[in-house]
Amino acid sequence: MEAKTDVDLDQIQIEYLGRNGYLTQEIKNISRLHKDDRKGAGIIINEAKKIVLDMIVARKNQLKDSSKEWFDKTIPGIKPSVGHLHLVTQAIAEIADVFEKIGFVRVRYPEVEWDYFAFGALNFPEVHPARDDWETFFVDVNPDKKYGPMVLTPHTSSGQVREMKRVGKPPIRMVNIAKCYRRQSDISHTQMFHQFEGLVIDENISVVNLKGTLDYFARNFFGDTRKTRLRPYNFRFTEPSFEVDITCDICNGVGCRLCKAGWLELGGAGMVHPNVLKAGGIDNKKYSGFAFGWGVERAIMMKSGINIPDLRLLYSPDLRFLIQF
Ligand code: FA5
Repeated sequence: MEAKTDVDLDQIQIEYLGRNGYLTQEIKNISRLHKDDRKGAGIIINEAKKIVLDMIVARKNQLKDSSKEWFDKTIPGIKPSVGHLHLVTQAIAEIADVFEKIGFVRVRYPEVEWDYFAFGALNFPEVHPARDDWETFFVDVNPDKKYGPMVLTPHTSSGQVREMKRVGKPPIRMVNIAKCYRRQSDISHTQMFHQFEGLVIDENISVVNLKGTLDYFARNFFGDTRKTRLRPYNFRFTEPSFEVDITCDICNGVGCRLCKAGWLELGGAGMVHPNVLKAGGIDNKKYSGFAFGWGVERAIMMKSGINIPDLRLLYSPDLRFLIQF
C-alpha cells in the first residue's frame, strides 16, 4: 500500500512494529528456533525493524515537505467587501435619534394587529373604505369577539391607543416606527413600507406644539433651510387634521418641475380626536394631544441629495442600486 497520509503510516507502523505486529511476532518466535540459529535471526529481524522505521520517518518528512506551498508574504491582500446598513435602516435610526433628543420614547406595536386598534378605536366608521380588503390585508383567522378581524397593520396609528393604555396617565411622547402593509404598488407605493408616528399627549397641547415639532424635525432630518406647512385635511382620528408639506430642496420653495409649487407632501398630522383619547382611557377634558404619521421611504426620497426614481427599488435585491447609499 502507498502511504499517502500520516494516518496510513501510523497504520503501517502498528502492523509491523506494534505489540502484535508482524516483526514483533517474529522476535517472539525466535525461542522456537534451534539455539545456533537464534542470534542470526535476531540480527536480521532487528535490521528489518530499523529499515521499516526509517522508511516510515522518511515518508513522513516527504509528506510534510510536499504540503508546504511557497507563499509570497509581500503580495498585497484582497480586501473582503464590507456591507453597510440598508438605506431604510439608516433612516429609521436617524429618525429615532432626532426624536429621542426631544424626549420621545421609541416604541413598537404589533404588525399583525386587530381591526379595533387599526380602525375601530381610531374613530373609523364600520363602512370606511380603508377597512375594505381593497386596501388592507386581512389575516385568515376567526375574528376576535371584542377586537374584530385580524389585519396586517396599514399604518402606525394602530399604536396610538395601545400606547395610551400602556402609559395610562399622560404625559405621553411616543415615536412608533414600524412596518405597514397596504395593497398598493407603483412608483411611489410599496405593499410593505415603514411609517414613523409621533404621539404627544399632555395638558395644554396645541397646534403650536405640533408645528414646532414638525419644524424641528424638518431642520434636523432634512437640513437647516427646510420648512414645513400644514394644509387642512381629513383623518378620522384627528380633529383638526392636516397634510404636512415640506419645502422642495431643489428650488428651495420657489417652485420647479419636481414640486410644481415649491412644496412636497410629507404625511398626515392633527390634534388627537376626543373619541380616540376616550378609547385610550384618557380624560379628554383635561388632556389634549397631537399626532403625525409619515412614510420613512418617502422621507428618504425627499432628503437632500437622494434621488430615487421608483420607491420599489428600495426593496429590490439589486446590489448595484443598494450599494450607492
Ligand atoms: C396615514 O397613514 C395616517 N395614519 C397618518 C396620520 C397619523 C395622520 C397621525 C394623522 C395623525 P396616509 O395614508 O396619508 O396617512 O399615510 C401617511 C404616509 O405614509 C404617506 O404620506 C406616505 O408617505 C406613506 N405611505 C402610505 N402608503 C404608502 C405606501 N403604500 N408605500 C409607501 N409609503 C406609503
